[in-house]
Amino acid sequence: MALPILALLTIALTPLGTAQPRDDVTKRFDCYPEAFNSPLSAADCTARGCVWAESHSPREPKCIYGDNYGYTMVAGSREDTQNGFRVRLTRNADLPPRYASSPDVQEVTLDVEMLSNNMLRFKFYDAATSRYEVPVPVHKPSTPATNPAYTVDLVSEAGKPFGIRVTRRATGTVLWDSSVGGLTFSDQFLQISTLLPSRYVYGFGESEHATYRHKMDYRTWGMFSRDQPPGPPGGDGTAPNLYGVHPYHMCVEDDGNAHSVLLLNSNAMDVTLQPEPALTYRTVGGVLDFYMFLGPSPEDVTQQYTQLIGRPFMPPYWALGFQLCRYGYNTLDRMKQIYDENRQYDIPQDIQYGDIDYMDRQIDFTIDQQNFQGMNDWVQSIRQDGAYYITILDPFISANETDYLPYTRGTDQDVWIKDGDNPDQIMFGKVWPYLPNITMDPDADWDTMIANYAAHTAFPDFLLNSTKQWWVDEIQTFYTEKLQFDGLWIDMNEPANFILGSVNGCSDNQWDQAPYKPRFYGAVLADKTICMNSIQGGTVHYNTHSLYGWSHSVPSQRAMRQATGKRSVIISRSTYPGSGVYAGHWLGDNTSKWPHLHTSIIGMFEFNLFGLPYVGADICGFFDDASPDMCRRWMQLGAFYPFSRNHNGKGFRRQDPAAWNGTIAEASRAVLLTRYRLLPYLYTLFHQAHTSGSTVVRPLMHEFISDKVTWTVDRQFLWGPALLISPVLDEGVLDVTAYVPKARWYDYYTGKEVAETGRMVVWDCDMDCIPLHLRGGYVIPTQEPANTTVFSRRNSLGLLVALDAEGRAEGSLFWDDGDSIDTYENDQYRMLTFTVDQGVLSISVDHDTYSPSPELHFATVRVMGSEGVPDDVTVDGNKVAASAIKTTDGVENMWYLEDIILAMNARHTISWPVPEDPASGAESPKSTPALLFSLITAVLLLLSVQ
Ligand code: GLC
Repeated sequence: MALPILALLTIALTPLGTAQPRDDVTKRFDCYPEAFNSPLSAADCTARGCVWAESHSPREPKCIYGDNYGYTMVAGSREDTQNGFRVRLTRNADLPPRYASSPDVQEVTLDVEMLSNNMLRFKFYDAATSRYEVPVPVHKPSTPATNPAYTVDLVSEAGKPFGIRVTRRATGTVLWDSSVGGLTFSDQFLQISTLLPSRYVYGFGESEHATYRHKMDYRTWGMFSRDQPPGPPGGDGTAPNLYGVHPYHMCVEDDGNAHSVLLLNSNAMDVTLQPEPALTYRTVGGVLDFYMFLGPSPEDVTQQYTQLIGRPFMPPYWALGFQLCRYGYNTLDRMKQIYDENRQYDIPQDIQYGDIDYMDRQIDFTIDQQNFQGMNDWVQSIRQDGAYYITILDPFISANETDYLPYTRGTDQDVWIKDGDNPDQIMFGKVWPYLPNITMDPDADWDTMIANYAAHTAFPDFLLNSTKQWWVDEIQTFYTEKLQFDGLWIDMNEPANFILGSVNGCSDNQWDQAPYKPRFYGAVLADKTICMNSIQGGTVHYNTHSLYGWSHSVPSQRAMRQATGKRSVIISRSTYPGSGVYAGHWLGDNTSKWPHLHTSIIGMFEFNLFGLPYVGADICGFFDDASPDMCRRWMQLGAFYPFSRNHNGKGFRRQDPAAWNGTIAEASRAVLLTRYRLLPYLYTLFHQAHTSGSTVVRPLMHEFISDKVTWTVDRQFLWGPALLISPVLDEGVLDVTAYVPKARWYDYYTGKEVAETGRMVVWDCDMDCIPLHLRGGYVIPTQEPANTTVFSRRNSLGLLVALDAEGRAEGSLFWDDGDSIDTYENDQYRMLTFTVDQGVLSISVDHDTYSPSPELHFATVRVMGSEGVPDDVTVDGNKVAASAIKTTDGVENMWYLEDIILAMNARHTISWPVPEDPASGAESPKSTPALLFSLITAVLLLLSVQ
């Protein structure tokens, strides 16, 4: 009770008049965020040492920080460090404690590290007491900052709160300025606010955002991993916190330079975005450890970010194929039947999934011997189709079985999360696994089911080395003894729990009863998960909760690589910065409703920013029944998700491409064949993401930053720099309104150039259409498709050459065996580059330490945007017969060669005459009719001279 009395004394001694509002009244930082939907009095506000100021709008906070709220620099405390400096800050003595139960840290240390020319770190911590720090490994650049793109200043004026200010040197733009008050560093509540240079803010996750660009109207987003389906926004315009946590955003400055910021903190937190523009972070533990990336382009920003947190894993080639899944096949016969029907309709499909219904009573590492007997035989049999199999494993292990070795071995090896109130006891929850020997009432409601039938489950503590090894061993055993699968789907790893906290509830403890509850779903932190005082990774779950999915991915990748001896693939529901090194992500339990088509694009943008480019949503939706029209449109969109999986919830209408008596089968097949044709390009983009950290699915603004219209486009997306995808996202609509940035663009299907660019256009789009456009300046490698990548990878290659205004284009192709581990790192790959200039297409083999067997060749080349159609084309010096130069009626300036044979492992040159460069004084380029006209005139002239 000492603290409240002290607090009262301090308030009494503090003349309230000394807390002045800031000069600029629009700079309002909320001092009472917990009162967002409850009444607050001026007295409550001033008791906290803040200023009561009537607001101008319902969203504006009424209780705001004054100039005295925060820390000041300890005079003379600045000292140089190896790559920066350190200062000490002291909390203003006249402030009352923020929360009585959460002692404020009187002296906070700030370290500034200039990590490279484009990366810096600033970290506020308590030098006297060690606090929780995120164990995710970061890779600091090895090159020192010799010529940093930024300056760092400390704002330290008498009577004003301390702040750190980061300025972009090239433009003078202030990227970060935290001298706005409110800095709080207490045991269980930490807060910092900063001004932002613009209102173009993207990222922060995981939540379903209605627009990619954030609204800056005092919206507060919670970040705390949670088993929560993406849902509609609540009253304040924000939507629930979902499965993963990414305290990371990118901001595009008004002049088009971009920077981004990571708060490396894993405690429950929220962020408020407000109109100044400004940003506030609040977290309930850890330290304030910020990394900033100076870009200056959005792609640079992502590359720098993934340099720090780790580059995304390279998926196997087959993982880019189409994937089919549902929860509730219920029997192997049904799974087989649906798989077979999709084969009968010739639907390209590389991967079949098994969801938890293959298990015996939903228990990991078991197979239901009644309904899924013979499963492994069947899984092996689909390999002859070229298909692969991915299985699900959940992170909770039944403790009520007899002779269930995964549990006994885990207990022997001490791998479980422990009960915070009895640290030598295992913490038990209840999730999917059912008890043995029960007769279930099929009509029982959910709560009764959980109460009567759910087993006690233990949760592996994946932060421990012993647990990682146990998980690897269990997967190996399951693989060896029961099921040879190719990839792993790790689900429910928030971790989810169907009861609150544990089978014993949660005690009253400082973690479960933290003084500040960030703005997220659930009344308490343990809602839908385990108690916050559970012991995990040598600390309390309060600190590690949002790291659970990340920690689950690490040994899962190791296990799958060990078991299969191949690259394999992991899909994880919960993610954290750094997860992309190990796993991809699907956007969770969405719903079969039209708006979820749009929000899936935003989700893909965000996860590409977060360093997880292997991402997609459940095609046709998880909850509810899809309609055939919706599913058809969704198959068209989903064919361009990097992770392209049709997945359905239990009990809902069938929605695989062969469903509905095959009425959407043909449209699905057509669009999937287009995907498969483009896979060499997609695979090369993944190679680039893996090696240089670029995005795969790219918002238009990443490529057209000087065009401000693109900064808000989130209904269209690019694959890399060159393929624009503009799907239909709405019901009953037969056209697409799309933005076409200024460049040359060609219709993917016809090669026809888009006439008008730099504006919105409307394209007709019947139910079989998804507009695709190729950007001038790029060469895109393709391959004849097949129904699985095992077969398509043996087919001939092609090149789509889209010329820019100067008649140039370039591209590349990465090729390896498709599923060995680390082929790039182990130097077992082939890399080709393509360049076009002045009518010469050069194919060169830049790296050749892998040869496909049989060797591949290019069979088609299509050139778009040439000046008319040449009648004289040579391939490797040999003239091509005029009849072999193909064109399409009604499509100008496009021609193609087919049935050529250009070995993939050799250099090649294809050339054709181009009109001379107008700059050199020659005539300007002409179209076919114009060229024809000139030719006739020349002949006539010649005749008349004679
Ligand atoms: C979770 C997953 C979903 C899966 C289901 C059953 O809800 O998000 O994809 O089908 O569990 O395993």
